[in-house]
Amino acid sequence: MSRRERAVAQEASREFDAYFRAIIAERRSTPRDDILSALAHAEDGGERLSEREMLNILRLLLVAGNETTTNLIGNGMLALLDNPDQLARLRDDPGLMPAAVEELLRYDSPVQTTFRRVRADCAVNGFELRARDNIAVLVGGANRDPDVFEEPDRLDVGRASCPHLSLGRGIHHCLGAPLARLEGRIAFEMLLERFARIDLLGSRPKYRNGIVLRGLRSLPLSCVRA
Ligand code: HEM
Repeated sequence: MSRRERAVAQEASREFDAYFRAIIAERRSTPRDDILSALAHAEDGGERLSEREMLNILRLLLVAGNETTTNLIGNGMLALLDNPDQLARLRDDPGLMPAAVEELLRYDSPVQTTFRRVRADCAVNGFELRARDNIAVLVGGANRDPDVFEEPDRLDVGRASCPHLSLGRGIHHCLGAPLARLEGRIAFEMLLERFARIDLLGSRPKYRNGIVLRGLRSLPLSCVRA
């Protein structure tokens, strides 16, 4: 990260805290039916979350829930455009949408990598791992595992079984999974309902850099209203 990028990030971080500090204070005095009020008034053994703890939770929620879902919609739309037979199938049978969202999560995973520290010496598929090793879990690779998925490189919006790892597994399974699925479903449903024709506009879209998140820089489309 360049010095300038770091300065911009620090300024954004200060603005983020200032914006939420005011809202946290307001929710402490006047609670509403929202997550900020719930956090502000949560109690455990007489203890409450400090302002710093709340700011960190809000940062996690915003970062974890923002670009990920954006990438699901962008990567998913591109996958459908690349596979017009699957797009047509989904238009013909909107009941496939829940399965399609799972398949789009699998096919071009918005989160490609998660990280873990090994707790005890063990072996995985013949690879020796030592306690305290740091490992990168390649979610995108696991989602194309031919031992788990039939024809893994094929987009199949009606795939019967789709045990992808795109929303994680175990105790760190994505907290926002139901919201992510709902947002994806609504976005794809609305796009297909509102536009009778959707085409890529201009040259092939490019992906942003990075090994954790996988998403497009932009996805210009030409759309014809239904
Ligand atoms: C398509 C959208 C999303 C994808 C692909 C996604 C993916 C993931 C993945 C792979 C993990 C596990 C990370 C790990 O094991 O290290 C995770 C955790 C998490 N996600 Fe999501 N996520 C999405 C949307 C959201 C939304 C909308 C929210 C919140 C509003 C959210 C909040 C979180 C949080 C708080 C965690 C951490 C859970 C923990 O460590 O206990 N995510 N997500």
